[in-house]
Amino acid sequence: MAHGDVGLELGARVAEALRRGLGLEITPDEAVIRPSTREGADYQANAAMSLAKKLGKPPREVAQVIVDHLDSADMLEPPEIAGPGFINLRLREEWLTARVAALLGDTRLGVPVVAQPRRFALDYSSPNVAKEMHIGHLRSAIIGDAVLRLLRFSGHEVVPHNHLGDWGTPFGMLIEHLVDEGHGTDGGISDLNRFYQEARQKFDADPAFADRARARVVALQGGDEATLTLWRALVEESTRHFQKVYELLGISLTPADVYGESFYNPYLDTVIDELTAKGLTEISDGAVCVFPPGFSNREGEPLPLIVRKSDGGYGYAATDLATVRYWITERGMTDLLYAVGTPQAQHFAMIFAASRQAGYLQPEHSTVHIGFGTILGEDGKTIRTRAGGSVKLVELLQEAVEQAAKTVAERSSLDAERQADVARAVGIGAVKYADLANDREKDYVFTWSRMLAKEGNTSVYLQYANARCQSVLRKAGDARFGDIEVTAPAERALLVKLLQLPAAISAAAHGYAPHKLTGYLYDLASTFTAFYDSCPILRPDVPASVRGSRLALTKITSDVLVLGLDLLGIAAPTEL
Ligand code: ARG
Repeated sequence: MAHGDVGLELGARVAEALRRGLGLEITPDEAVIRPSTREGADYQANAAMSLAKKLGKPPREVAQVIVDHLDSADMLEPPEIAGPGFINLRLREEWLTARVAALLGDTRLGVPVVAQPRRFALDYSSPNVAKEMHIGHLRSAIIGDAVLRLLRFSGHEVVPHNHLGDWGTPFGMLIEHLVDEGHGTDGGISDLNRFYQEARQKFDADPAFADRARARVVALQGGDEATLTLWRALVEESTRHFQKVYELLGISLTPADVYGESFYNPYLDTVIDELTAKGLTEISDGAVCVFPPGFSNREGEPLPLIVRKSDGGYGYAATDLATVRYWITERGMTDLLYAVGTPQAQHFAMIFAASRQAGYLQPEHSTVHIGFGTILGEDGKTIRTRAGGSVKLVELLQEAVEQAAKTVAERSSLDAERQADVARAVGIGAVKYADLANDREKDYVFTWSRMLAKEGNTSVYLQYANARCQSVLRKAGDARFGDIEVTAPAERALLVKLLQLPAAISAAAHGYAPHKLTGYLYDLASTFTAFYDSCPILRPDVPASVRGSRLALTKITSDVLVLGLDLLGIAAPTEL
């Protein structure tokens, strides 16, 4: 049975008190309930502070009204007003222990399913064909996958789609190069980056090749069967490569999730007709453009979204308009999410604005560009290899596993094979966690030593905490879980923390902010460590009932860590 977010439950009670005491209607959120770090308080209600001005009353007076009308004797100790008008709230022990006891064996660990599920289409990863995925694509894949898991667990429907860059003028030169190289249609290109660069060099240096490439683009767009066969070979070769990276990373995307740019081709004419029929298009320098309101350049001139280029070809923007149209009108999605780097913020803002004008998006639909910053090297600049090239994802991930293997070998007693599995979980987990633990909007510095540190806000720390729980549970043998008891402050702190999982998941899912979950898990692991250090579990002098309670807490802590890591796409080995 899911009990949900304790803060919201307290908020509802504060709201009710205000309704009774002052006839004021507020939402539970507006009660501003926050976990408290004050001695003796688990939460504090800041509503009095934020409402005082609006009510024209001193905050302490408003706080007094709340306290006088608060119906919470079952849940709270008598609340106290502190400072300028905070209300300190301390949960009652009976309430706490009963709530935590209900988590044992609850697969959702108290997390409710949303009352009104929505239908999300989530665009993530979206690399470009015939180019190797590099570290810049890492963030979209990692963040997108965590968002997918969080929203699904919350009860929403999420359809992922991989907006592969599989169309456009570069394919002319790539196909001609493929023909020259005699690959035919059997693929087998070992180095996609080099292949792309070779094609590029020939295109720039050899006018005859460039002419062939241009003719090839026309043939491709005209649907020439032989050309399409070659094109498909290139796409499939790239897809195989991307799939290897997804598998290594533990990203759930499959080839069935590919909705590349080419997929939207059949819709492009319709899009331009519909925009024109609505009077939204203008011809500018020979190109068909839309000028969504509110976008201008430095000179204050309106910025165009180029729908059809002057050469008659459709570009990136046209495809994205068709993408919005497809997922909303053909697939009935309610929300469109895009995990794409922040440099594309303006592109998406313009696409969303034009889609509203076109009527593809109605008021009930929402769109979110889940933007993110850059990964920096230790010199503070965009990360590069020693030779100055862009870092290849596969190589980076292999290095992560190698580095992790060293860390694991230092203290592991596992056999070699198990150690290899663990190194994978630790290494890949470290790369993902280091990314997810940052506010995604910010850039961050990629540092092996920091992301593999055994202490601090790292996945390894959480994995060790879970392995420690598992080890205690293994050693407990026949000892049983018992009723939850509170016998020490560190134990009580753990109970309070365990009940904060629903709030953390909700904040992470609905803010597209996985770092809110990592922050919680780190707090939980630290709280568990403090409990473990001060509350013996298996020592012979510990009374059986206390041991039973502590074992149950250990089990619930492990379950929460495993679930939390899983929602971030990170494995939690039982032994390290
Ligand atoms: N392929 C693009 C790139 O590498 C990202 C595509 C993002 N999705 C989209 N619908 N535009 O920059």
